[in-house]
Amino acid sequence: MDKNFYITTPIFYPSAKPHMGHAYTSIIADVIARFKRIDGFNVHFLTGTDEHGLKIQRAAEKKNMEPLLFCNEISKSFRQLAKTLNLSNTDFIRTTEKRHIKSVQHLWSLLEKNGDIYLSKYSGWYSVSDEAYYSDDEINTKDNKKISTISGSTVEWVEEESFFFRLSKWQDKLLEYYKNNPNFILPESRKNEVISFVKNGLKDLSISRKSFSWGIKVPNNDKHIIYVWLDALTNYLSALDYPSTESDLYKKFWPASIHLIGKDILRFHAIYWPAFLLAANIPLPSRIYGHGWILSGDEKMSKSKGNILDPLEIIDKYGVDPLRYYLIKEVSFGNDGSISKERLENCINSDLANNFGNLCQRVTVFNEKNCSSIVPEKGDFNKEDLQLLDNFSNNINIIRNEIDKQNINFYIEFIVNSLFDANKYFNDQEPWKKKNDIKRLNTIIFTSLEVIRKICIMLYPIIPESIIKSLKIFNLKEMDINFSSISNHNYLKVKSKINKIDILFKKIEKVND
Ligand code: MSP
Repeated sequence: MDKNFYITTPIFYPSAKPHMGHAYTSIIADVIARFKRIDGFNVHFLTGTDEHGLKIQRAAEKKNMEPLLFCNEISKSFRQLAKTLNLSNTDFIRTTEKRHIKSVQHLWSLLEKNGDIYLSKYSGWYSVSDEAYYSDDEINTKDNKKISTISGSTVEWVEEESFFFRLSKWQDKLLEYYKNNPNFILPESRKNEVISFVKNGLKDLSISRKSFSWGIKVPNNDKHIIYVWLDALTNYLSALDYPSTESDLYKKFWPASIHLIGKDILRFHAIYWPAFLLAANIPLPSRIYGHGWILSGDEKMSKSKGNILDPLEIIDKYGVDPLRYYLIKEVSFGNDGSISKERLENCINSDLANNFGNLCQRVTVFNEKNCSSIVPEKGDFNKEDLQLLDNFSNNINIIRNEIDKQNINFYIEFIVNSLFDANKYFNDQEPWKKKNDIKRLNTIIFTSLEVIRKICIMLYPIIPESIIKSLKIFNLKEMDINFSSISNHNYLKVKSKINKIDILFKKIEKVND
């Protein structure tokens, strides 16, 4: 079985500081990366910044800066965000790096050699904010301005000599590919959108610009720069040392297991990217998953709309794990969602502080008082004990399968239910009334400790920092976390030390106005 797993986030435009939408994509990718890692996979996790094109050139001009110096600065804040979000990315790519430029120019030459590129003239609409071409039927007039009906962004008229990619030639091959690989694009609703767009007919794509200079030069023609999306998409290959297809990284991790993206950039990833790869004879990634948006009111949060929410402010106030937990639990994955302070505080108080934090406290304090702070010698498990413990072994394969379809909602529901069951078990078993039956008392405590350990494994991908702290209960370390031990009900060694830990999540006092 292939135990290598390659996951990517989109590379972000460093046209402005990161916002909650960027944090969202990154956190989901990290949860999946960590999940696979503790499931024994060798994980390569890539994120980075998309630094060329007119959008960046204009943003730099506004600040009176050289584009590269401008990018150096803002790219740093994305790198910093990755740290603050506690991402476990194994690489961070910038499209201004040499390794990337070399890779893009190689891919271009290959497409050219295979007869998929020709020189002509582009005349049509272009959105700088989306770095996208739109056809006449995708344009509306609003307040005397031309806007794209797809994204709502303003467009401008462009007329210039341009190289084209023969996208139309790949229409049938793409449709065939979608049909033969029904899980290539998920969720299902977005796959259908893509298929109907392709069925409507694909026009050849303009893949070079002449009227500005901030980008990668077309090989052997330095008047043209390569279209920023052809440049950007290639980052997924550049990070694996492409064009050197014999490199360890490429051999291990290409084709990518999943490109996780927002639904706004589905067309680029599910149509253009596979078409480029087909034309270059490079295997296609296994999955393109287009998640929903984090909204501000009813609108997508974005810099151009001026309605951004700074993830750093939320993290400063509440901590990173509560934000991660909130985004996983409260935004139904695949759909749009929003950030509500009230629901975030509820997550902290009820799920994290009460259901998880308190459970750890109650069991360890009880253990200290009644079992001398060690794992007690247990008797036989009864039906209730086994029901609680077996729930994990019975479901782990189902959860693995669901995660492989990015069904994050199923995974978090399982966790929420397990927390509920574990608390209910401790309350119902009433170990404090079993002081005359030490064997039973010990078995209840043993079972409760073992369940906390299993829940810690389940929660680690979502709230890694807090789980590493929780594992001090058992003197376990991050490297001890793996799914292979989740079915073992006797993992804890009798007589090994159990520690009390500091409060994991402080409850938020709610002030009534
Ligand atoms: N640079 C391109 C991507 C190139 S990938 C080869 C780009 N950058 S972006 O910075 O504008 O946005 C990147 C991604 O950030 C989106 O696809 C999406 O995953 C995420 N989000 C940006 N705003 C978002 C929300 N409001 N909500 C959720 N995610 C959004 O597009």
